[in-house]
Formats: sequence, C-alpha cells, structure tokens
Amino acid sequence: MRLVTLTINDIEVKAERGTKVLWAALDNGIYIPHLCAIREANPPHAGCRLCLVEIEGRPQLVTACSEPIVDRMKVKTETPRVRRVRHTAFQLILSNHPIICSECFRNGTCQLQELAVYFRVKLKQRRFQILPRNYPVDDTHPLFIYNPNLCILCGKCVWMCHERGDGTLNFAFRGMETIVSTFGGIPLKDANCVGCGWCVATCPVGALVPRTTKIVSLERMA
Ligand code: FES
Repeated sequence: MRLVTLTINDIEVKAERGTKVLWAALDNGIYIPHLCAIREANPPHAGCRLCLVEIEGRPQLVTACSEPIVDRMKVKTETPRVRRVRHTAFQLILSNHPIICSECFRNGTCQLQELAVYFRVKLKQRRFQILPRNYPVDDTHPLFIYNPNLCILCGKCVWMCHERGDGTLNFAFRGMETIVSTFGGIPLKDANCVGCGWCVATCPVGALVPRTTKIVSLERMA
C-alpha cells in the first residue's frame, strides 16, 4: 500500500494512493456532504453533486467522490464558491422530492433531512419550482414497496442490485424523464428480483421500503 500526503483545508492527511478525495477526507475526520457515493463503486455515479470541492490548480470544482488523490494535492472543502454550488445542488434535489416526512418510513433517518440540517435549509424550499411526479407505486413485490415519486436518482439501489442482486433495477429514460425501473417497467413481482434487500438497505430516502410500511398516497405528494 502506497500512502500519499495531501492537505484538506490546510490539514495534512495521508491516504492510500488512488483513494477518492471523499473517502480520504471522511477517513480523516473531515466531513464532505454526499448522497450518492458508494465506496466500492468504480466508477462512482457522481450524480448528486453535493460533494463538490476545490482543488488547487483546477479551475472547475470537482466531485470528491470521483477524484483520486495524488501526492501534495491541496483540497478545500468549504470555500464560498463550494458552499454556494452545493447549496444549489441540494435545493435542486429537494425540488424533485415530495416533502411528506410525517407519512414516510424514513422519517428521522432520511438523509435529505440530515443534509437539510447541514445546509441549514428548509425541506420545503421555494427557490425552484416543484416538479410534480405521478408514477404508480409498485407494491407487487412480497418483500418491499417501490415508490418512484420519492426517488432522488442517487443510483445506489441500481449499483447494489447489479453488484449484489440480479440486476433487476436500472435507470430508464433520460433527462427529466429519468427514473429507476425494472426492464420495460414490468412490476417487481414479475421481474427477476431475488429479494436480496440491498436496494432497500441503501436507499437514502423513502423510495424503497420494507413491505410492512404503509404506502404513501400519491394525492399527498401533489
Ligand atoms: S456524492 Fe459525489 S456526486 Fe454524489
């Protein structure tokens, strides 16, 4: 194992060469917000943009979850520019997520709630127009329920499903139409799901929840 030395917010840290900036920071007690990162994922999804940081000598912000460390790298995680862009990225995620916490299985453990505290923003934000979604809830699986209206497209379930399950879940469509779905959108009970449960375990919000959970009514999400 070859260790390299870098500085994060002027603090000297050591980490294994090739480690992504995010994990080097977290392993050394320096918090960088993140939502879609999975340590083993290679390449990382890098979709939420909450982990943006500045690196000396680089004009653009980079995602810490996808940027490998190199010797003598200088990383800044809390500059005004970083905070401003991350803040906007978080509000964009919120604009696509119905805020129905009191009815949600993840209330109290939802990562959006934790991040809202970190960013000091209200979950019900007004900066961006809320985009209503009205996808059918899939409650056909014997073990869990999937509500695509609550999905934030972090991709963690897709990665888990492919690495540890049977590859049942995938991204479908593009742009604003993107959703996580089975192939052809068939009900989960008819897909080749092995019921490993990793998708439910990794979902940071209430999109994939155990079967025992009540189904959130779509009317409440409008
Ligand atoms: S955690 Fe890096 S982009 Fe989501």
